[in-house]
Amino acid sequence: MTSGIRFDGVSVVYGETTVLDALTLTVEPGEVMALLGPSGSGKTTALRTVAGFVTPSAGRVHIGDRDVTDLPPYQRGIGMVVQQYALFPHLRVDENVAFGLKARKHPRAEIPGRVAEALEMTGMGAYARRHPRELSGGQQQRVAIARALAIRPDVLLLDEPLSALDAQLRSGMLAELARLHRELPDVSVLYVTHDQVEALTLADRIAVMDRARLRDCGTPQELYRRPRTEFTASFVGNANLLPVRVAAGGVDLGGTVLEVPVGDAAPGSAATLCVRPHLVGLGEGPNALRGRIAEVQWRGATHRLYVDVGGHRVKADVRELRDTPPLGSEVVLHFAPEDAVLLAAGVRDG
Ligand SMILES: Nc1ncnc2c1ncn2[C@@H]1O[C@H](COP(=O)(O)OP(=O)(O)OP(=O)(O)O)[C@@H](O)[C@H]1O
Ligand SMILES: [Mg+2]
Repeated sequence: MTSGIRFDGVSVVYGETTVLDALTLTVEPGEVMALLGPSGSGKTTALRTVAGFVTPSAGRVHIGDRDVTDLPPYQRGIGMVVQQYALFPHLRVDENVAFGLKARKHPRAEIPGRVAEALEMTGMGAYARRHPRELSGGQQQRVAIARALAIRPDVLLLDEPLSALDAQLRSGMLAELARLHRELPDVSVLYVTHDQVEALTLADRIAVMDRARLRDCGTPQELYRRPRTEFTASFVGNANLLPVRVAAGGVDLGGTVLEVPVGDAAPGSAATLCVRPHLVGLGEGPNALRGRIAEVQWRGATHRLYVDVGGHRVKADVRELRDTPPLGSEVVLHFAPEDAVLLAAGVRDG
């Protein structure tokens, strides 16, 4: 059985404050949808309306063809993993994983098999008799994932499951989650994170949230290559956002005319030009920008140059730079016309 998730105008209000504002969003069956956004934007709240721990003040939540808005959490067929400390400390690993099955009155004889299966899937088969305090943070999170999978959920809700882990462990677990989803292709996943790498790596689509509202939704490639708003451009990946005016066949950046695709933008109108720092090259080329080095950061594989161009600070991530240009020196940057995206001004908020 496969079921997606559908939010239909879901709002959550606490007192006077709307913390989720008419969210309408569909997660297709078997899809991984990342909810990405800054702290306090309403991501956890949205996820908890699916889990059944938060009751919407308006709107409906569907899982598959069932309206679950008024169902208690245990009848929704969901597995959930939160940030940390979610295991019962007094129960062994196998007892933790069995918990959801027992609570749902699953046939007793089948429980050990289900527990073993879930622990195997997460690579924790050898740890069944341990207690959570005898496990590392990463191992505990694997057990939490095993516990969520043991009930064979239609929907898996993950709320920053990796954020308590260190960077190296996180990237290993990210690969594990991707593998798990390949093994369970029918499970729909809602993955809350404020880490864009996690969202770009795991998600089929990303829903970008800001201040209680859905701002954008698309595949990682769409949002990265063709962002529609300044918010998305700066939140999904790094971006140069330059205030420009639309001119004939391009844009005007403080007197310099740049050749970029302008679509149907009206000549003379204000707009924002988005260029990714790694697509800005050092040296002469199309769309040359002359300026002075304001700052240089060495980042291992690249140098990040900050260049003052007519009062605007342009970031360029440059590879294989032999000599670091001295601060204040004059440089030329350039970018290909097709690497720029023109955003309508004023769409930052929505
Ligand atoms: N039970 C509650 N009562 C009142 N306000 C709440 C409650 N739960 C959440 N909020 C508020 O709702 C807003 C959204 O919270 P939410 O936890 O959904 O954010 P988030 O996007 O998950 O943030 P983070 O990335 O920090 O986890 C916040 O301003 C928060 O203070
Ligand atoms: Mg949260």
